[in-house]
Amino acid sequence: MAGLRLAVFCVLASLCFSSSLCAADDVEVFVKGVTSLAKTDDNFICATLDWWPSEKCDYNQCPWEKAGLLNLDLNSKILANAIKAFDPLRIRLGGSLQDQLVYQVGDSIKKFPHFKRRDDGLFGFSRGSLPMDRWDQLNALFKQTNAKITFGLNALHGKRKSDNSTLWVGEWNSKNARDFMKYTASKGYIIDSYELGNELCASGVSARLEADQYAKDIIQLKEIVKELYPDRETQPKVLGPAGFYDTEWFKTFLEVSGPHVVDGVTHHIYNLGAGVDKTLINKIQDPYFLDEIAETFKDLENVVKEFGPWAGPWVGESGGAYNSGGKDVSHTFVNGFWYLDQLGMTATFNNKVYCRQSLIGGNYGLLNTTSFIPNPDYYGYLLLFLTRK
Ligand SMILES: *[C@@H]1O[C@H](CO)[C@@H](O)[C@H](O)[C@H]1NC(C)=O
Ligand SMILES: *[C@@H]1O[C@H](CO)[C@@H](O)[C@H](O)[C@H]1NC(C)=O
Repeated sequence: MAGLRLAVFCVLASLCFSSSLCAADDVEVFVKGVTSLAKTDDNFICATLDWWPSEKCDYNQCPWEKAGLLNLDLNSKILANAIKAFDPLRIRLGGSLQDQLVYQVGDSIKKFPHFKRRDDGLFGFSRGSLPMDRWDQLNALFKQTNAKITFGLNALHGKRKSDNSTLWVGEWNSKNARDFMKYTASKGYIIDSYELGNELCASGVSARLEADQYAKDIIQLKEIVKELYPDRETQPKVLGPAGFYDTEWFKTFLEVSGPHVVDGVTHHIYNLGAGVDKTLINKIQDPYFLDEIAETFKDLENVVKEFGPWAGPWVGESGGAYNSGGKDVSHTFVNGFWYLDQLGMTATFNNKVYCRQSLIGGNYGLLNTTSFIPNPDYYGYLLLFLTRK
């Protein structure tokens, strides 16, 4: 499997990187399909934008700079053109800090803090807020570029940390999220899907929720979406749990949330380990290592088939190496051996969508963090897009 996928990748890669063909105006590639193994969504291709402020640092470097949703330069022509090229590109807005983000709208919240470094905060940050004028500007860009938006909502609002390590308990307070969705709908901003929480499932990362409580919270989200968007045709989808796969947790979540609540079962993939790992570059080129994650895809496919056949699995966030990726690796050509292999594998196991962390920001951006110039993986994605047309 990996061998075949890699061979296709090499053919595609050599088309672009061998000088004679790169100079040509048009290159046509024919892929003759015989049977189909699985079916993806028409809009499989997705990339993420994250909330990280420039003070987000890992391993003595701070690779987000001004690429976070609150400070990204939305007037960049390169950024707009990079998004437009996919027509449409799915963009998932979310990440670790989304569960500490409040929306500056409505009257259920009185204080609107800025994200600040705080050692006792989740992920080392205080709470932050999204002003509605910034949301308006983001939507202007999304409209202009025809992007398809998934918005990740704060799922911890109203809950409290239990005595038991990272477990959070209590009901989700949906008031602020509801005010935000109501504002968004009233402005006519088109949202493809709302997702609830980030990496709160199974053992979580900084915080975790029990599967049955999360299922109740997502039922509540579905009710709000149905109420605010009564037209079934344009009703945003509901996605969750946006975290790492665990069989028991995912089973319970699907059983308790019940039929037709969740439209996409989103899971996150960071199968290359920590960004600081010195062997990262070797793992990326080792097909046996790359195939290990197939087990997870297979298990998830089976659980969704059995417990949530109304939904499909989605890769909601996948950056390869975690903690912002590898400084000298994740934005370079070699990363494509992991990335393009992943795209093929993901589709084979029936995932509908693949969201690459990140469109911009960290060391794994498809675009360079400061110049916005596309990195090699951007072109890998574009080749995939063009061969699908
Ligand atoms: C803490 O949570 C774990 C996992 O859910 C559970 O097994 C354990 O019994 C809990 N401990 C207490 C003191 O509640
Ligand atoms: C961005 O470009 C600069 C200059 O070429 C390079 O040093 C840096 O590593 C690149 N970073 C990313 C994340 O693309």
